Amino acid sequence: MGLALLSSCAAGRDYSWPKFDEPDEEPINNLATSLYDEDGRIEDPCRDENDCSYVHSVHNAPASQQMAPWQASIWAYKYQRTSKLPVEQGDWAKRHRCGGTLIAREWILTAAHCIAGKYRNYTMTVRLGSTKLSDRSGRFYRVLKKIPHKYYDSRTKANDIALLQIEPAYRNGVRPISLIGSNQAGANGSANIFGYGKTRNGGSSAILLWASVDVWNMGACQQAYSHYPGRINSSVICANGPSTDTCQGDSGGPLVFRNKLLGVVSWGDGCAQPGRPGVYAKVAHYRNWIDTTMASRARGR
Ligand code: ARG
Repeated sequence: MGLALLSSCAAGRDYSWPKFDEPDEEPINNLATSLYDEDGRIEDPCRDENDCSYVHSVHNAPASQQMAPWQASIWAYKYQRTSKLPVEQGDWAKRHRCGGTLIAREWILTAAHCIAGKYRNYTMTVRLGSTKLSDRSGRFYRVLKKIPHKYYDSRTKANDIALLQIEPAYRNGVRPISLIGSNQAGANGSANIFGYGKTRNGGSSAILLWASVDVWNMGACQQAYSHYPGRINSSVICANGPSTDTCQGDSGGPLVFRNKLLGVVSWGDGCAQPGRPGVYAKVAHYRNWIDTTMASRARGR
């Protein structure tokens, strides 16, 4: 993990178009080492002494549909056109590309790096109404339009935010989250993270996990990332817990503060490294972009 971001968001690869015969990139998820197996059975992480010494790198507890009615899993296909339920065995691990959050019936907020670079040409579908990717729960929604922030910079991760317009999602247990106001004073304290991304034992999870993290103040985060001058500013929020953080595969997913969307998972130096918080695109900063982008599409422009 040399760079801030692991394979899924390797800098420099963004905006390069795939060669036709390029093999599918190594899946970010690795079933063999997943904390949860296909049936959602949790493997005892402390069965083996060596496992116990791992940093608790990501989440700590399964989340229910009720806790996260807005959670999305974005699936990416290089050639295939559709996602069908039930999914083929192990498919979730290959196809889950990123998290996302339902913010209106037909809008998913996610990270720009999830849909940039070679992923620009991928067919994507959004799965909602599920907290277990290996079973047939929920439904896939077609992506009608991918809209990355115009000024997303794959090198610095600036403006790492994007909207996906999907078929409208009306379904039991599925509900959009409200966004934090642009005056987000008071978003200090603890917030929650959700995702299917990499866990402390190296693989990702078929089950949606959540954890609590503390929001950092900007000055402290600037110091923590002083080796990346200029990257920490009022457009991002930093957060982590004593041993919890988001990680690869959680990108695009939500940072939730008092039932409102505070941030979008973007990057970090490794995962759950002490003194290296996760960095999130700050929703309050992008409120205007989000609102106007949704409104202009709604008017058919
Ligand atoms: N870029 C990663 C992804 O594509 C997310 C990394 C978040 N890292 C962190 N330490 N919080 O899934």
